[in-house]
Amino acid sequence: MRVALGVCGGIAAYKAAELVRRLQQERLEVQVVMTRSAQQFITPLTFAALSGRKVITEMFAEPGAAPANIDSAIEHIAVAQSIDLLVIAPATANTLARLAQGIADDFLSTLYLATKVPVVIAPAMNVNMWEHPATQENLEKLRARGVHVVEPDEGYLACGMTGAGRLAGVESIAKKVCELLGIRHDFEGETVLVTAGPTCEDVDPVRFLTNRSSGKMGYALADAAARRGARVILVSGPVQIEPPAGVELVPVRTTEEMRRAVLDHAAACTVIIKAAAVADYRPAAAQPKKMKRSGGRATIELEATPDILAELGRAKGNRILVGFAAETDRVADNAREKLRAKGADIIVANDVTCEGAGFDAETNIVTIFTRDGHTVDVPQMSKFDVANRILDEILRLRS
Ligand code: PMT
Repeated sequence: MRVALGVCGGIAAYKAAELVRRLQQERLEVQVVMTRSAQQFITPLTFAALSGRKVITEMFAEPGAAPANIDSAIEHIAVAQSIDLLVIAPATANTLARLAQGIADDFLSTLYLATKVPVVIAPAMNVNMWEHPATQENLEKLRARGVHVVEPDEGYLACGMTGAGRLAGVESIAKKVCELLGIRHDFEGETVLVTAGPTCEDVDPVRFLTNRSSGKMGYALADAAARRGARVILVSGPVQIEPPAGVELVPVRTTEEMRRAVLDHAAACTVIIKAAAVADYRPAAAQPKKMKRSGGRATIELEATPDILAELGRAKGNRILVGFAAETDRVADNAREKLRAKGADIIVANDVTCEGAGFDAETNIVTIFTRDGHTVDVPQMSKFDVANRILDEILRLRS
């Protein structure tokens, strides 16, 4: 998600630098927009370095010059349409007045008019300016339009006076932003192990048995759990996608490697989610040399791999254990049987013959079966949204 951070000209402008960092911790992309007077207090370079993005400081480029701060003459519309939230911190009395009147005389005030996303304003100013009826009337106007105001704190102010007007704490502003964007931290304190992707079982030095798992479902689970505050260990078979930010990746190849990695980390985990498509069979003996073509039929003898989920189910302790069921028929019956036989708390069943579900799809369609007899049908949605529904069920079981 992307947030525009408007910075106005007040002594508290330096605190906006800390706010950039705090919002980034929530994995938000931050586009900083500075008013002219903000640049008297802190340089755009500071924000550019922190945000990793060009800071927008001007509405238009100098006549005849190539656009310096904007990619196009209608950048404010492009930014307005690309953000999920606009937060202005610190907001000065002057900016509050301009926003309340609908004056669009710089990039920030124009962006405010051009966007339909939630707007959060954190004012900061001298106590008399804050208490002035003009400022309070402007704030009332903005509130009536649905703008969210994070009230300033009381205390000693830079001007030497004491009273209300000090920019609210970065934590309070970030909390309001998270609340409006639906960012939750309900997995804080949990250590979640997720398995993802396929496993590979060697036939000979150049050939192996595997399956069509892309890792997308498991990676979405790891991403969602990390965003909700969990420490995440991602045990992954070979896939072509990047691991989500902030997760600990443990790459594996074979079922035995996956088993070892899972068992090594299991004791430290409070939740284990097995979304990997683990090979059920492997060649009984991998050939040390490349098998030669003989012209006739060839037979590979297979043996069952260890069932990692069932092994975890036998020594589950207080952990929540979630398995998946990739089914092509009798989905509900097979899932309920897996829930019982593997000692899991939850089985997430997907009919992998359905369009938009299962292997390598961007979306999934699942039914969640829980040990307390609860069944949740999750219609087609992104794997990330499915992941959040699964995490919700884990928390429900916990409560
Ligand atoms: O990776 P994607 O392309 O996004 O596809 C997602 C998916 C289809 C792989 C995923 O949604 C899914 O269904 N994963 C489980 C696939 C699978 O192996 O299902 P299963 O019904 O064969 O196994 C049941 C459970 O036992 C699974 O949790 C599996 O991880 C586990 N298992 C299986 C075999 C084995 N030897 N050890 C195991 O732990």
